[in-house]
Amino acid sequence: MISLGIEGTAHTIGVGIVEDESERCKVLANVIKTYHPEKGGIHPREAANHHAKYISQVIKKALEEAKLDPDEVDVISFSQGPGLGPCLRTAATAARALSLYLKKPLVGVNHCIAHLEIGRGTTDCKDPVLLYVSGGNTQVIAFANGRYRVFGETLDIGIGNFLDKLGRYMNLQFPSGPIIENLAKKGEKLLDLPYTVKGMDVAFSGMLTSAQSYFDSGERIEDICFSVQEIAFAALTEVTERAMAHVGKDEVLLGGGVARNKRLREMIETMAKERGARSFVPRDDLCIDNGAMIAWTGLIMYKSGIETKVEESYIEQRFRTDEVDVKWRE
Ligand code: ATP
Ligand code: FE2
Repeated sequence: MISLGIEGTAHTIGVGIVEDESERCKVLANVIKTYHPEKGGIHPREAANHHAKYISQVIKKALEEAKLDPDEVDVISFSQGPGLGPCLRTAATAARALSLYLKKPLVGVNHCIAHLEIGRGTTDCKDPVLLYVSGGNTQVIAFANGRYRVFGETLDIGIGNFLDKLGRYMNLQFPSGPIIENLAKKGEKLLDLPYTVKGMDVAFSGMLTSAQSYFDSGERIEDICFSVQEIAFAALTEVTERAMAHVGKDEVLLGGGVARNKRLREMIETMAKERGARSFVPRDDLCIDNGAMIAWTGLIMYKSGIETKVEESYIEQRFRTDEVDVKWRE
């Protein structure tokens, strides 16, 4: 079965095409086009305009990459939420149009669950705790009692947002996460920063204020980046470990744009090893927001009998992870 998925929850409009091959996900195409605001944070309507401008081009390119005619696609999936209303609406409109025109079934997918399912479909993990770390999201998710449940999350801003905000304050380019990662390699001094972990939740705004004042007082930027990574990632590692112990799982999966960070991967891997568990990371283009993860999740949902009628394919800005009845798993 071949599935085409459209992702459009925030900065990225992505179209992926995947095929199932003995329960595994084979990615045939994964075209990603990201909106970069000229300055400041994301403006939802401008991002949606960007997506509307490029969506047909991105669909065409994905079909070309997969070497497929549109009517060879069996199912159309789209990111139904959570995310920014205007962006979600643009992606959903494109998906509905394709579904009606090609007369193919439509499946609305929860974006957070897709980050987890693409890891299960393309790596060797079977039942992981997902540490989902992106710009807007920071959550610890695992399967329990028939649903994907959020065991921990940020109480204020997402980790990626935190890194980008700090970067902007220190005059770095957007996205700042990768630049901070590079600068951190030359850090030597571990600065004292507030460490906020409450049970399985984390928070970063105190750390942001403190790091900004270190910058104002002339501390080396390399040391600030190094300290921020060490302390923020330690907090993420701690809550992930607590969730693993709590739900009794011995696999950890990383997802989201910040999962590209080598230092975070290293810390999660060390934690996993120490408790006799295994850690997994999907390939880079499947960590960030992308259409292939939507296509794959739509495919396994459809195979379990789930379909979204066009009349009921409204978007859900606050689509909760545990709202979804996970029929495709035991
Ligand atoms: P979502 O809508 O799921 O919140 P997003 O729009 O933030 O996603 P992603 O592509 O998942 O998109 O993540 C982008 C974030 O990842 C940015 O905040 C960026 O700074 C961060 N990032 C990317 N690479 C790295 C890296 N190597 N180290 C740290 N952060 C990174
Ligand atoms: Fe995401």
